[in-house]
Amino acid sequence: MATNRTFTMIKPDAVANGHIGAILAMINNAGFRIVAMELTQLSKHDAQEFYAVHKERPFYGELVDYMTSGPIVAAILEKDNAVADFRKLIGATNPAEAEEGTIRKLYAESIAANAVHGSDSDENAAIEGSFYFAERSKH
Ligand code: RTP
Ligand code: MG
Repeated sequence: MATNRTFTMIKPDAVANGHIGAILAMINNAGFRIVAMELTQLSKHDAQEFYAVHKERPFYGELVDYMTSGPIVAAILEKDNAVADFRKLIGATNPAEAEEGTIRKLYAESIAANAVHGSDSDENAAIEGSFYFAERSKH
């Protein structure tokens, strides 16, 4: 089951710039089925926990501030080979290096405000999806 699912967020820049509809259309057109979705705003605690893996990185504080700066759309997506196929659809972390036609190439503003998140492994997809749609609501 987990191998067919990934977790995404449409980040604050893309929501603020009015790209929710266009990004969801790209997700659907690429063959992903949306199995859970929520428009929400992360607390500082949520963002710190979600990105705890980057705690030691120089951009961690900036990343947490940015991810809490406005609403996001969190979703669980289903498709064969979901994690790898979604990473391909979103493109490189830095939009300047993202391939033509990818979500980040089309809609990201910068390496920090890069429009979307996509899980990087089946294990993290399962952890991130349950964090958002089960654990977070208990805080
Ligand atoms: P994501 O987790 O959001 O899907 O992005 P990613 O795998 O492509 O990149 P990752 O290395 O996991 O970094 C997580 C997020 O941190 C921000 N970042 N800022 N200022 C910087 O140099 C920098 N580097 C990374 C980005 O928002 C990136 O998506
Ligand atoms: Mg990542």
